[in-house]
Amino acid sequence: KKETIILAFESSCDETSVAVVKNGNEILSNIVATQIKSHQRFGGVVPEVASRHHIEQINYCIEDAMKEAQVTFEDISAVAVTFGPGLVGALLVGVAAAKAIAFAHNLPLIPVNHMAGHIYAANFASEIKFPALALLVSGGHTELVYMPKENVFQIIGETRDDAAGEAFDKVGRVMGMKYPAGKEIDQLAASGKDTFNFPRAMEKEDNYDFSFSGLKSAFINTVHHASQVGEELNKADLAASFEQSVVDVLSAKTKKALQNFNVKQLILAGGVAANQGLRKQLDIDLAEFDNIELVKAPLNLCGDNAAMIGAAGYVGYKHQNFADMSLNAEPSLEF
Ligand code: KG4
Ligand code: ZN
Repeated sequence: KKETIILAFESSCDETSVAVVKNGNEILSNIVATQIKSHQRFGGVVPEVASRHHIEQINYCIEDAMKEAQVTFEDISAVAVTFGPGLVGALLVGVAAAKAIAFAHNLPLIPVNHMAGHIYAANFASEIKFPALALLVSGGHTELVYMPKENVFQIIGETRDDAAGEAFDKVGRVMGMKYPAGKEIDQLAASGKDTFNFPRAMEKEDNYDFSFSGLKSAFINTVHHASQVGEELNKADLAASFEQSVVDVLSAKTKKALQNFNVKQLILAGGVAANQGLRKQLDIDLAEFDNIELVKAPLNLCGDNAAMIGAAGYVGYKHQNFADMSLNAEPSLEF
């Protein structure tokens, strides 16, 4: 059987990434050029700055990815690219580069949804089996996605306001941390206790939706009040309390979905899937379900990267889901 080698592109936000992926589950290379330092002074991603960095980096990323994978364009079966959701100017850089290469080398062009890419990062940990449920937690999205079969995605619940990662970043900013703050809060939380008992919004409601803006406000009010009265708060406990509140609602809604949907796997993916508290909680939760396998995206592939786009692109390749040269960036793309 002939190998399928996909050259994949990701440039939806603040990571320029190019990867070479074999048969959807083997990474031959995965180059990630992060721009985080350039955005940190602004406390978040500045779209214009992001686009400019992508343009500067993308050709080096292509070169490095192909060199590391030891492949030439002759070896490539298809080109896959994130075309949404994300920042339009950022997406356009990857889309233009992928189109140029597909056109020049007469290769099929596979359009990939960034969120499907996050889910398919799990395929590098264990083969995705259907039906599956994905808890998709990132900086821009928080969703429970039911996949009855390959290539079918149904959002059964999502956040009504902030995404989980967004809440981590906003709370981190109040604590004086650099953007993005998720990892730092996670590390601090490890040595703290849940002493503040922040709200668990919508935890008991009969749906699969989330809300994190109330938690964010409760956190900010607590910190502001303490500084007004000159009280010193325990930072580790603050972090642990915030994290536990987020983890509790993610866990509760995921368990509810697992009870009501008959699935073989629960997939944990997206930037926030790197969270240690969340990973541990789901290990505990899944012990209650006999025949459901927990598949966590590998830690180094939770954040944005092109290898996951290559894995999702392989599915598109199998289904011959190809785009032509009119492919455009779709900043608000949904499943
Ligand atoms: O998926 P991602 O790389 O980009 C988007 O598509 O949004 O997710 C980035 C988000 C950021 O909000 C970041 O703070 C969060 O993932 N994050 C974490 C952790 N590592 C990254 N949140 C909680 N705990 C972590 N360990
Ligand atoms: Zn992402």
